[in-house]
Amino acid sequence: MSDILVEKSDGIAIVTLNRPKQRNAVTYAMWCELAERFRAFDTDADIRAILLTGAGADFSAGADISEFDAVRGGAEESARYEVAVDAAGDAIYEVSKPTIAVLRGYCLGGAAHLAMSCDFRIAEESAVFGIPAARLSIVYGVSATKKLFSLVGVTEAKRILYSAKRFTADEALGNGFIDELADDATAAALDRANAMAANAPLTIRGAKFILNGCARGNLDETEADRLIDEASSSHDYAEGRKAFGEKRPPRFRGR
Ligand code: COA
Repeated sequence: MSDILVEKSDGIAIVTLNRPKQRNAVTYAMWCELAERFRAFDTDADIRAILLTGAGADFSAGADISEFDAVRGGAEESARYEVAVDAAGDAIYEVSKPTIAVLRGYCLGGAAHLAMSCDFRIAEESAVFGIPAARLSIVYGVSATKKLFSLVGVTEAKRILYSAKRFTADEALGNGFIDELADDATAAALDRANAMAANAPLTIRGAKFILNGCARGNLDETEADRLIDEASSSHDYAEGRKAFGEKRPPRFRGR
């Protein structure tokens, strides 16, 4: 059985980290595969929203520490390893469709990076968060730290990173790390994904590009203008106006 499962149904893809006996710890090979999978969603016209979750009781206990000697032994291997982690995070962050992390059980370290790379985080009460890098003498990566900063602010980000302490789902809702607490996080995420999947893909792609650029402080306004123009000359813009006139739901194609 593969360590990453991908199911596609009714326009929604569900990506599952699938090593439940190891609490879904993410191996080097999995970081690389996640990057490929999420890049592929970008050009998959059938997919309108993506959920990222873990098999069994946990989202993930983070990077697979048991293989660190082999794949993250010294500075050079560590740098190569972090490139793979960031590539996975960036592929999730940049895919032009809504992404939702579905969280229960442990969500630690590198797994927090995966969750923070999604547009939204929906958790159950069982979820436990933490970034224990200070227990391993690892500096949490630049890309992941920027995401943490933009979600929780500078003081809370420092508290989380300096203390390496775990925090609960309630605390995560309070500090902005997650945006919803639900009895059934998968059901809540599917509801949200289905509602977004019905909307105009070019609107969501443009909004995501602009907001991610704002959050990262590197908005490419020329590209944003191009996306705005593309939406304004699209089939879907004509369809949206036609559907409004005919008092029926629009049928968007993403072009
Ligand atoms: N990397 C590799 N293996 C991991 C892992 C990780 N990050 N997290 C859990 N596992 C493995 C355990 O080694 C154990 O394997 P084993 O059954 O072969 O001994 C199995 O998953 C179950 O975990 P276990 O530690 O027995 O469960 P627990 O309930 O006692 O503790 C954690 C769960 C998550 C608190 C604990 O496993 C832990 O601290 N993991 C490391 C978390 C971490 O530092 N992550 C950051 C990495 S960047």
